[in-house]
Amino acid sequence: METRESIFKRRSIRRFTDQRIPEEVLESILKAGFNAPSAHRLHPLDYIIITEKDRLNGLADRLTYGRPLREAQSAICVVGDHDKQELFDFLSQDAAASMQNMALMATDLGCASVWIGVSQSYPNISDLESFLELPKNFKCLSILALGYAAVNKEPNDRYDVHKIHNERWSK
Ligand SMILES: Cc1cc2nc3c(=O)[nH]c(=O)nc-3n(C[C@H](O)[C@H](O)[C@H](O)COP(=O)(O)O)c2cc1C
Repeated sequence: METRESIFKRRSIRRFTDQRIPEEVLESILKAGFNAPSAHRLHPLDYIIITEKDRLNGLADRLTYGRPLREAQSAICVVGDHDKQELFDFLSQDAAASMQNMALMATDLGCASVWIGVSQSYPNISDLESFLELPKNFKCLSILALGYAAVNKEPNDRYDVHKIHNERWSK
C-alpha cells in the first residue's frame, strides 16, 4: 500500500476479531515506531508489548477510555525516559510521532488500531505505571491497541480550507 493510501485509510477501530497478530507483523509495526523522528536525537522511548488477555484487560481496567483493549489482540505501550528527555512536551511529541508511524504501518499491513491516550493527569496514572512495572524515570505516554478489524470504516477526508492561514492568523 502506498503511504498516501495508508494515511487516508487509517481509522480508529475499536472492535477486533479473534485473529492473532503474527510476530513478524508486530515486529514490522515496532520497526516503524522506532524509525520516528526524535527531539535532540535522544530516542528516549521503549515499547512494552502486551498480548496476554488478562494483561490487556488489566490495562483497560486502569484507563477510562481503554475499552478497545478488551478486544484487542495486542497492545504496544509507548513509554519514555524522562531523565533522558527532560522536556516532557518533547517526550510526548516523540511518542506521538512513533505512535502515528506504527498506526500507519499497521494499516499498511492490514491490521486495525486505535490510539489509547494516556495523560499524566489521569487519577490512576501511578497504578497504570506500577502495573507496567516501569522504572521511576519512565512515563507511560500512549498505547496502541491492535487487532484485525471487526467493523468497517470509510476513509477520512477532513481537509478544511477554512483552517488554513497564509503568513499569519486570518479569518
Ligand atoms: C492523543 C489521542 C488520544 C486518544 N485517546 C483515545 C482513547 O483513549 N480511546 C479511544 O477509543 N480513542 C482514542 N483516540 C482516538 C480518537 O478518538 C480518534 O482518532 C478520533 O475520534 C478520530 O477518528 P479516526 O482516528 O478514526 O480518524 C485518541 C487519539 C489521540 C490522537
